[in-house]
Amino acid sequence: MSGLVVVSNRGPATIAIGPDGQLVARHGAGGLAPSLARALRGERARWVASAMTEGERRAAREGVPAGLAGDTELRLVDLPPEVRDGAYRVVANATLWFLLHGLFDRTRRPVLDRRWREAFERYREFNHAFADEVAETADEGATVVVHDYHLFLVGARLRAVRPDLATVHFTHTPFPSADELEVLPRAVVHELLDSMAGFGSCGFHTARWRDNFQAAARAALGRVPAAFVAPLGTDADELRRVAADPACAVAGEALDAELDGRRLLFRSDRVEPSKNLLRGFLAFEELLEERPAWRDRVVFVARAYPSRQDLPEYLAYRSECEHLVARINDRFGSGGDGPIRLRIEDDFPATLAALQRSDVLLVNPIRDGMNLVAKEGPVLNRRDGVLALSPAAGAFAELGAHAVEVEPFDVTGTARALERALELPADERAARAGALARLGAAHPPAEWFHELAAHAARPAG
Ligand code: G6P
Repeated sequence: MSGLVVVSNRGPATIAIGPDGQLVARHGAGGLAPSLARALRGERARWVASAMTEGERRAAREGVPAGLAGDTELRLVDLPPEVRDGAYRVVANATLWFLLHGLFDRTRRPVLDRRWREAFERYREFNHAFADEVAETADEGATVVVHDYHLFLVGARLRAVRPDLATVHFTHTPFPSADELEVLPRAVVHELLDSMAGFGSCGFHTARWRDNFQAAARAALGRVPAAFVAPLGTDADELRRVAADPACAVAGEALDAELDGRRLLFRSDRVEPSKNLLRGFLAFEELLEERPAWRDRVVFVARAYPSRQDLPEYLAYRSECEHLVARINDRFGSGGDGPIRLRIEDDFPATLAALQRSDVLLVNPIRDGMNLVAKEGPVLNRRDGVLALSPAAGAFAELGAHAVEVEPFDVTGTARALERALELPADERAARAGALARLGAAHPPAEWFHELAAHAARPAG
């Protein structure tokens, strides 16, 4: 039993099967899980998550070895492959993620046919399994913190079976406007919003996402659910501790040699359409085209780790990025490597080393709930690096005044913003960098998590 229960799709770490068959914990993917794991250090909490890997499915059957999930007691929900596929691949990632980020090409997507409705039934099963795991093991009146779009329907289930629990949901993504929600059948929108209203309160990274949620709920439900804003920040001390690891120093020396005195434009993302990598490359091409003086004086390193490769949209996006970079490098390459170094791999030490060294950090998403990289970069940077930031990233609400703004759809505007960022005078870089480092370290995960728990409440009505 537990008095504090955290519920999310991904757990605090990825559990894999090691070389000699033992279960090992690895760094979690995405922004949420690693931040959450750090926030829960010292808390006696139970964490309910999906068994997503073979190692996690084995741990779900045999029990999670003590200490594998830090201080939390990890409970892994192991569902049949067809339930996970329908709930996670079809509904969470191919439908809700695209809806939440405004990514649909509405002339073709989504296709809400019989197959999609069967997948949405799997999404209900997925959510009910998580809610039932909580309902069966949470103490009377326990605090339950539920995360993200995978688990929107947990609210209604807990409201029905465990109204004694103090619950709160947090959405790590953007939340769309009411008219964008028209992409889904009204009955589905009503079910999702009614369930979100079934939590004691709903948290978001910015006022814009919170206001969108409350306006959509008012329109669909005729009532305004409790909601709040709690932006997540970086754990600056932890980040600097990890960046002090010898592996970062080795990666940094290799990068210094590669740069060979040239300036560094850097970005770090998942291979994710909403991150807008393509327009970032096109803007860099236009900068080199319009300002030949910058050719051979700046290297664009783009580190992007693979994500959701079971979705054709993600495979196509990765291929388009690779082909575009190859074309630009053929055009501007001087013999050796071209000006863009696209590295599609998950290399955390090399990413931290580049964040320490970037002269300009490009964060130009089409839309992003927060984008923690926009905060991690300034916290780690040693060169008074400039942040080129999209106003559609949640981080812009806190950092925008000290960043160079890049409008995500404007390629020429982004090219000019990159040129401006590269040419900022030293004193202005220093002033901006100091403010960004301070703001990036505000609301660290442990403080942010307690803010969420403080909003937990018994469901209204
Ligand atoms: C975003 C979501 C997280 C998710 C992460 C990685 O950050 O807010 O909930 O875990 O992307 O996506 P994945 O599908 O690999 O879990």
